[in-house]
This record gives sequence, C-alpha cells and structure tokens, in this order.
Amino acid sequence: MATHFFEEKEHATLYQKYRPFASTEINDLILKYLEKKKGKPFSLAVDVGCGSGQSSRGLAPFFDKVVGIDVSEAQIEEAKKMRGLDNVSHRQGVAEKLDFKDASVDLVTAAAAAHWFDMEKFMKEVDRVLKPKGCVALHCYQLPFAIHYNNCSEHLTQIMEEMFKTLVPYESERRQIVRNKYKEIFEAITFFDKERVDNILIKQEVSISWAMGFIESLSYYQTFLKKDPEAAKSLLERTEQKLLKAMGVSSGDTVVEIRMNSFCLLASKPE
Ligand SMILES: C[S@@+](CC[C@H](N)C(=O)[O-])C[C@H]1O[C@@H](n2cnc3c(N)ncnc32)[C@H](O)[C@@H]1O
Repeated sequence: MATHFFEEKEHATLYQKYRPFASTEINDLILKYLEKKKGKPFSLAVDVGCGSGQSSRGLAPFFDKVVGIDVSEAQIEEAKKMRGLDNVSHRQGVAEKLDFKDASVDLVTAAAAAHWFDMEKFMKEVDRVLKPKGCVALHCYQLPFAIHYNNCSEHLTQIMEEMFKTLVPYESERRQIVRNKYKEIFEAITFFDKERVDNILIKQEVSISWAMGFIESLSYYQTFLKKDPEAAKSLLERTEQKLLKAMGVSSGDTVVEIRMNSFCLLASKPE
C-alpha cells in the first residue's frame, strides 16, 4: 500500500499551484502506442495517483472519458477545484484496488506516481480492468531539473544540484526506484509486450518563484520541513537568492526555462 505522503491539505495546495503541466511529448508517445496496439476508439483512460489533476486534464482531448484517482482526499479536493472539463472526473481510490469493471478501460496511466504503488497488486488490477490490447503507461521525470536563462544556465543548474544534495537524507527509499528509472517497475509489469522510452526532454517556462514552489511540493522537502522548519525555509530562501544573483535580476517573477529528463514504460495487455 502507498505510504502517506501528499495527504495534508497544505501539501495538496502546493501541488495544485506548482506541479508541472501534462507533457505533450509524453502524451503523444502514449497515444501513438495505444493507437498502434489497440486502436481507436479511445473511450476510457484512468489516471492513477492523479494528484491535483494536471495529468488527467492533459488526456481530456483524446478520450471520451478520463477518471483520475488518488489515495489522498486532499489531492482529490484540489483536483475538483480546477476549471471543469466535462469529460474529466476525479475520485478517491487506490492503485491496488481499481474501482472499474473488468475489461472496461483503454488506458491506465500514472504520472510520477507508480513508485508509490504495490506493483504486484496494481498489475493484477491493471490486467483485470484493461480491455484486450489495452495499454498501461507509467512515466516519471528525474530531478534535479536544469534551469536555462541567458548565458548563466550552467551556474543555475549547479546551484540546483547543490540544493538537491541537501535534500537527499530526507528522501524516502522509494526515490531510489525513480533514480533507477523504474527498472524494478519495468520488471514487475506482467505483460509480455512491453517497452521503455528514455531521455524524453520536457521543457517548461516558469518563474523562479514557481521553481521554488515546485521544490516545496516535493515529498522529501516536506519531510525536511517537518524535521527542521527553519533550516528548510532558509535553504529555499538562500537558493532563490543565489539564483537571482547569478541571473543578475531581483524579481522572483523572472521567467526561466526548466528542463527535465523523463522516461516512460509502456505495455499492452494480450488479446
Ligand atoms: C508525485 S504525485 C503525482 C501526481 C500527479 N500525477 C502529477 O503528475 O503531478 C504522486 C501521487 O500519487 C498518489 N498515490 C500514492 N500512492 C497511491 C496509491 N497506492 N493509490 C493511489 N494514489 C496514490 C499520492 O497521493 C500523490 O498524489
């Protein structure tokens, strides 16, 4: 069963404000795979561990219906607050017991979430709910992210790397699964027809303040904050100051480009 990160109200609110948008590159990859393996129609997609709903909303234009589920009530509340899309809904639920009928789902996906699941139970459920040839797509990004701005990108990225080193002691052991690029998860996928795509570059234009908010939303930053609030807050403040100084600007609203490396596991249920 999942560990209980992400469940507090304040943490869920940070998620809503500071989590990356759905990546077009990854959605394209998943949709092409689903088209090749199962073909249309694309009736139902289930986004497991949907958090505050960014990943589910990104799938909305391509499916008749998208359902986002998350173990955390607080995350689901945040997801429901967002501008309504008629074909997207969110509800509380767990990856290990999917509340869907047998052979009723075209795509099961999880964005930056599968490392929290009990994979054995999750895969049994995926196998049960997917239609024949339906697909599962599990993707995640790797941190630290690089920051690009004028000619000081290398320096900015170095500042981020240093900051992330301070957070390492607060990481859950599940972070190792992400560092291993979901190697264990790939092995745990029970479908014979499976593949992985690595080095998917995701770029997003954000303000420096947003980048700091993203760090604040990380489960291991929250662990640090609980253990030593002053040190955690000071780390963020110092990092922001260092970044602004290196950029030669004074406003946290200054826009930079963040670049993250992502990977995606894809698999298709037998006919
Ligand atoms: C890092 S967040 C990712 C959220 C979102 N998909 C995104 O891309 O921003 C991981 C989410 O997985 C949820 N989660 C963890 N274990 C879960 C489980 N066993 N079943 C359902 N949701 C789970 C957490 O509550 C959290 O909202």
